[in-house]
Amino acid sequence: MKHVLVLFGGVSSEHEVSLRSAASVIRNIDRAKWTVSTLGVTKDGRWLLYTGATEKIEDGSWIDDGEHLTSAVLSPDRSVHGLTVLHESGAENIRVDVVFPVLHGKNGEDGTMQGFLQLAGIPFVGCDTLSSAMSMDKAVTNTIADHIGVPQAKWLGVLKTEYAADAEGIARRSAAYLGFPLFVKPANAGSSVGVTKVCGADAFDSAMQTAFAQDDKVVLEEGIDGIELECAVIGNDEPYAPMVGEITPCNDFYDYEAKYIAAESELHIPARVDEETFRTVQRDACRVFRALGCTGLSRVDFFRRSSDRKVLFNEINTIPGFTSISMYSKMLIAAGVPYGEIVERLLGLALEKWG
Ligand SMILES: Nc1ncnc2c1ncn2[C@@H]1O[C@H](COP(=O)(O)OP(=O)(O)O)[C@@H](O)[C@H]1O
Ligand SMILES: [Mg+2]
Repeated sequence: MKHVLVLFGGVSSEHEVSLRSAASVIRNIDRAKWTVSTLGVTKDGRWLLYTGATEKIEDGSWIDDGEHLTSAVLSPDRSVHGLTVLHESGAENIRVDVVFPVLHGKNGEDGTMQGFLQLAGIPFVGCDTLSSAMSMDKAVTNTIADHIGVPQAKWLGVLKTEYAADAEGIARRSAAYLGFPLFVKPANAGSSVGVTKVCGADAFDSAMQTAFAQDDKVVLEEGIDGIELECAVIGNDEPYAPMVGEITPCNDFYDYEAKYIAAESELHIPARVDEETFRTVQRDACRVFRALGCTGLSRVDFFRRSSDRKVLFNEINTIPGFTSISMYSKMLIAAGVPYGEIVERLLGLALEKWG
């Protein structure tokens, strides 16, 4: 039996989404092959080994389940190769074969946890430090997409200090280059937090302030009128991207509410597009995945513009929403890979990469 440690929660605006993803993963790990431990990181950053019911992870009540919680940390000491559990009676080291970080957004998907795991010498599922950090930053991914010739919306990057020095000039030049509507987004965030669709010059400054509240770097993009397409990628050196899905947001754009609250956005798998569009998305998803040095999994998102049907790269998520009904899983399931098999493959890919 090998031992897998699932990390959930995290100091992130996507903490709750992680709880749901992690519960799905935990339920679907093959217990004949794996011993499973679960470690939660609270919103304020406490690390707790949790031995209670998976439903309590899902609904967030694990944090009140005191008899099943013990302080514990991942040790950077490679001779431990796993957890140091801090019992009242003293510390206990537990060896772990592989870590599955089911953490979305900041402090989990952005390379910080991955750096820590690399330092600790423990194999883990998903992208390494550099590819996670690059994929998290929309100014970096857009730069790489330009570099490898993957088409995307016209865009500009703006630093908080630059904006403070010349807000009016930046507003004027952005409007002239990108037109309206344009999108303002924090370079590093997720789940549409801090993203605004700007339809006129009046609304520009408040959108910039909203984005700067999340990050000191902001990305501005021309608004694309079209459909949203997503592609699930799994693999290491030979990424496999069998399926493309389509999202029709129930709101004006795919904002936080449309993603998690209203839940009335429509998903179509496979996407209702012609074969050439489908193949272009698959090919460009793999090109972006490789160029960023990704391994394990990612969901790569695109638009298909209505006017000329051109496929445009939008963003990449290295730890996408991962419940059994999330877009990433549903795409692979539709391609014939059951959810439990996805989890097993990802654990295998982690051991193959780091083992
Ligand atoms: N350039 C754009 N044109 C049209 N819609 C956009 C554009 N950029 C973002 N959006 C809309 O905003 C949503 C969130 O933006 P996205 O870049 O995916 O950030 P996040 O990482 O928060 O998901 C997208 O799903 C889409 O609905
Ligand atoms: Mg997105």
